[in-house]
Amino acid sequence: MCGIVGYLGHQQAVPILLEGLARLEYRGYDSAGVAVLDGNDSMIQVKKQKGKLAGLKTSSNDFCLNAVCGIGHTRWATHGRPNDVNAHPHTDCTGKFAVVHNGIIENYMALRDWLISRGHVFNSETDTEVLPHLIEELYAGDLLEAVRRAITKLQGSYAMVVLCLDEPGRLVAARHDSPLVVGLGDGENFLASDIPALLKHTRRTYILEDGEVVDLTSTEVKVFNGSGDAVEKKVFEVNWEAEQAEKNGYEHFMLKEIHEQPRALRDTLAGRINPEVGKVILNEITLDEEKLKNINKIYITACGTAYHAGLVGKHVMEKMARVPVEVDIASELRYRNPIMDKNTLVVVISQSGETADTLAAMREAKRNGAWTLAVTNVVDSSIARDADDVLYTWAGPEIAVASTKAYTTQLMAMYLLGLYMAEKRGTQNVEEAKELLIGLRELPDKIETILKNGNIIKDFAAQYCSCQSSFFIGRGLDHAVALEGALKLKEISYIHAEAYAAGELKHGTLALIVEGVPVIALATQQDIIEKMISNIKEVKARDATVLALAPEGYTGLEQVVDQVAYLPQTHSLLAPVLAVVPQQLLAYYMAVERGCEVDQPRNLAKSVTVE
Ligand code: G6P
Repeated sequence: MCGIVGYLGHQQAVPILLEGLARLEYRGYDSAGVAVLDGNDSMIQVKKQKGKLAGLKTSSNDFCLNAVCGIGHTRWATHGRPNDVNAHPHTDCTGKFAVVHNGIIENYMALRDWLISRGHVFNSETDTEVLPHLIEELYAGDLLEAVRRAITKLQGSYAMVVLCLDEPGRLVAARHDSPLVVGLGDGENFLASDIPALLKHTRRTYILEDGEVVDLTSTEVKVFNGSGDAVEKKVFEVNWEAEQAEKNGYEHFMLKEIHEQPRALRDTLAGRINPEVGKVILNEITLDEEKLKNINKIYITACGTAYHAGLVGKHVMEKMARVPVEVDIASELRYRNPIMDKNTLVVVISQSGETADTLAAMREAKRNGAWTLAVTNVVDSSIARDADDVLYTWAGPEIAVASTKAYTTQLMAMYLLGLYMAEKRGTQNVEEAKELLIGLRELPDKIETILKNGNIIKDFAAQYCSCQSSFFIGRGLDHAVALEGALKLKEISYIHAEAYAAGELKHGTLALIVEGVPVIALATQQDIIEKMISNIKEVKARDATVLALAPEGYTGLEQVVDQVAYLPQTHSLLAPVLAVVPQQLLAYYMAVERGCEVDQPRNLAKSVTVE
């Protein structure tokens, strides 16, 4: 998704903008650009091009060395293909205004027609280009005023920063449904879509709210709300280290994040469990015993990997809290007129807290009177702010587009919620709760063991990386985790991967199982393991190559499959947290073997802030 950076101060602007954009690469992009006021304030200079930042960096080597004010952008194409012309920043007819934008201006066609009728000339296919022209049309000597008037005419979502030739030393920014933060420096100030872009320069930030407009100079930051009143912003001090957002010696962010899972899971649990009495302590949420006892239906809604965490959440919550749970893809739920009322709990899962469909599904739930509880990783994200309750996963920043530690911490949150609800609703089996809590506490160490024994997976990846197609099979919870394993492989290695409920194979997918096709068979669920073995035999009978994931000590598989990767033993309900790790490694090593861009797979974005 697009990334924005703005700078105003006393240092060279171009390197700061490019470096800030590099910190936002994880959002996914297909083109990049910068616009600066040249040192004499005589014109706005723009440099933008299709492709990765490295290309822009090379072509910007001697670009406006004396500029101290500018804006930068990484674009993820929505309206108009990824090319040099559609790349941001966009300018008006006179070259007086330059704009970077993240989001979608939904009424851009009407605005464009109107602006064309007023004599404006457009160059690109983008929705964004209406912004500089609209501001040009409305400008009467005060940029803040022009931006304010412009946003009253916009429908859709935006985070934007505007640079004006006539007002050097000033940037004006606005946000609505797309993230934007201010970085507070000394004699310099910054704007960015996300905090990692600021960390090299400052830890002091303002997190902007929807509707807010910022008037920024190098020494002053004024923030106004939608009605134009000045807002007293609270400084948000970032307390995580810049290195946390960097690779830390790993070849890719994804591998680093896979290895961060033990730490991340310990953080998710910290202060939230008391295994001695079998209790989960979630002081941060207001969903109390009374409300929980009245809940008669739970929806879980999310997108992508977070949706897969929701599928595990369904098993956990139904088993523990004895409430029916439906899991819905957010882009479906938002339009299907779901049956909800005040006795419905809607659990919204989103790593970024900014996914447009998830946010919309949550708003739909609120409109229907449901209680919304967000499970997210990003403090003060849009979803966190709009939800009735928030449970943070504390995974730390996740940079690789393919989600790993965010997923396992979301699973942890599902267990915490399930146990919490069970206790409050009186459906808890105390002895089992104690066992599960001890099990949860042991998971990080067990993941460390799996990571140490990653070579089986690496070898398997090397052997089968040239396959065209692969299958992931499992029953019950194993099916939910198989879906995530298949998604990981698709996302980053571009190998076709299909996850199937093992018992359903014979109703169609078995036709695709031929000699040598790799099948990853998950067999962690003790109560149905014999059924699973029968399904594995079905694919073996068609000469598939099977890698099984099974608990240590279970030797029944060795004669049946080609390879077994053993997982440390745990309660069956907790097995997903372990079973996903070898699958993450498999996807990673396959992608590396195939020379894919692991951290930024083609066509995908980390944070999908448009519908
Ligand atoms: C994108 C990302 C996925 C993520 C999904 C939902 O597709 O590439 O990794 O699972 O969005 O994102 P969220 O931030 O809402 O969890």
